[in-house]
Amino acid sequence: RPTQRLLVVANRLPVSATRKGDDWHLELSAGGLVSALLGVKQNFETRWIGWAGVNVPDEHGQQTLAAALAENGCFPVWLDDDTVDQYYNGYCNNVLWPLFHYIGLPQEDRLAATRSLQTQFKAYKVANEMFARAVYSQYQEGDVVWCHDYHLMFLPKFLKDMNSQMKVGWFLHTPFPSSEIYRTLPLRSELLKAVLTADLIGFHTYDYARHFVSACTRILGVEGTPEGVEDQGKLTRVAAFPIGIDPQRFIEALETDVVKSHIQELRARFAGRKVMLGVDRLDMIKGIPQKLLAFEKFLEENIDWRDKVILVQIAVPTRTDVYEYQRLTSQVHEIVGRINGRFGTLTTVPIHHLDRSLAFHELCAVYAITDVALVTSLRDGMNLVSYEFVACQTQKKGVLILSEFAGAAQSLGAGAILVNPWNVSDVAMSIEDALTMKEAERNERHRHNFMHVTTHTAQAWADTFVSELNDTIVEAELRT
Ligand code: UDP
Ligand code: G6P
Repeated sequence: RPTQRLLVVANRLPVSATRKGDDWHLELSAGGLVSALLGVKQNFETRWIGWAGVNVPDEHGQQTLAAALAENGCFPVWLDDDTVDQYYNGYCNNVLWPLFHYIGLPQEDRLAATRSLQTQFKAYKVANEMFARAVYSQYQEGDVVWCHDYHLMFLPKFLKDMNSQMKVGWFLHTPFPSSEIYRTLPLRSELLKAVLTADLIGFHTYDYARHFVSACTRILGVEGTPEGVEDQGKLTRVAAFPIGIDPQRFIEALETDVVKSHIQELRARFAGRKVMLGVDRLDMIKGIPQKLLAFEKFLEENIDWRDKVILVQIAVPTRTDVYEYQRLTSQVHEIVGRINGRFGTLTTVPIHHLDRSLAFHELCAVYAITDVALVTSLRDGMNLVSYEFVACQTQKKGVLILSEFAGAAQSLGAGAILVNPWNVSDVAMSIEDALTMKEAERNERHRHNFMHVTTHTAQAWADTFVSELNDTIVEAELRT
């Protein structure tokens, strides 16, 4: 049997481009969506379709960049500055992202400051149509087209309009909120109807899938069944497919000389101290201020620990053109400055905060030397940082403190210390529990998490989704 051809469509390509004179510099993109999909290698002949993160107005530039991307199996969608502003910064990241993470819709003044929601929605549809055309130019009969995330909820509809036989799946990498939240969205029906044209719709957890089905039944009046959503005899299958990582990539990296030498450097640098770690895009959903405040409370209450622990916070810059993200950056800097001013000494500070991304081998090293990882998301689709930390802890068997509002709480809940990130005192106490946890308990908790992370991989996730999509289509044909 020939390998299944898979067209992966996501707003963000796995590589982002920057222009250097006549050349292009390609760098790995950040975020869980890209990490997971990079872990899907076997069983598919994959092509990626998406945005390279750069505006390329000239034809020469488009040709050279397209050639460079094609070498990586990537095919670009060209978005101009205005579209990026209205569709990506506006509708995707200032409307849908906060709504899906229970932050709610932007207030009137913020909306007026950009342009109206209606204009952004129009741009969203136009952008989705551009993605559809890019898919169509790559499409061959029999291909599976897998659309990803909140950026592309109209894509299934445009694809089915072009060719109703196309096998189309859509997967959401964020939470899907309670229908009580979702129904505040103006134009809420259009979006649901568009996404329901897909053959299969997937979420990280059963709860998100249930919220989606309720939104459809309450807002559209269609029927919810255990299989999905049914409208006049047409079934759209809805199910949970928890994502994972490629654990082998991390386990093998730890054996390389470059990572080993990083580990040695870091150990020397932090000698005599326990290391706590946060790795997040600098996003409001990650609860970074809450994490810092909990750490401050811990230092306040545990005088003996003040010179024995350090919090390393990697805050990867993200969506920097959106106002809320700029505001968050200043807020986080202010808190870090205050805590370091308060508890620092002539030679050290308690928080080591970095506003940048790390190279993969640096990231592996810092995961490996960490004693306690702190994930305090206020809402998070899954959170793969927690999985990556576990994959790198075979030696140390450090402790994971994990927000109960991350999708990962449902899979790593038994091995992690679960916390409500809004409860600062509770998180502060969990930090103390984690730092003083006995070896036997750490081993047991790590064993549990490691087992999960190494069996529920990104590859298994993709295999299950695609085979379910193929089955769904066969079943639909049998029904007619
Ligand atoms: N990551 C990255 N560069 C960094 C630090 C982290 O690309 O400097 C990756 C990290 O390895 C992880 C992803 O970003 O795979 C974050 O995924 P997660 O699911 O935790 O959150 P998301 O960013 O998707 O909200
Ligand atoms: C989350 C989203 C992804 C997105 C990533 C990085 O993981 O689910 O779709 O790619 O964040 O955000 P960015 O806006 O830079 O693509």
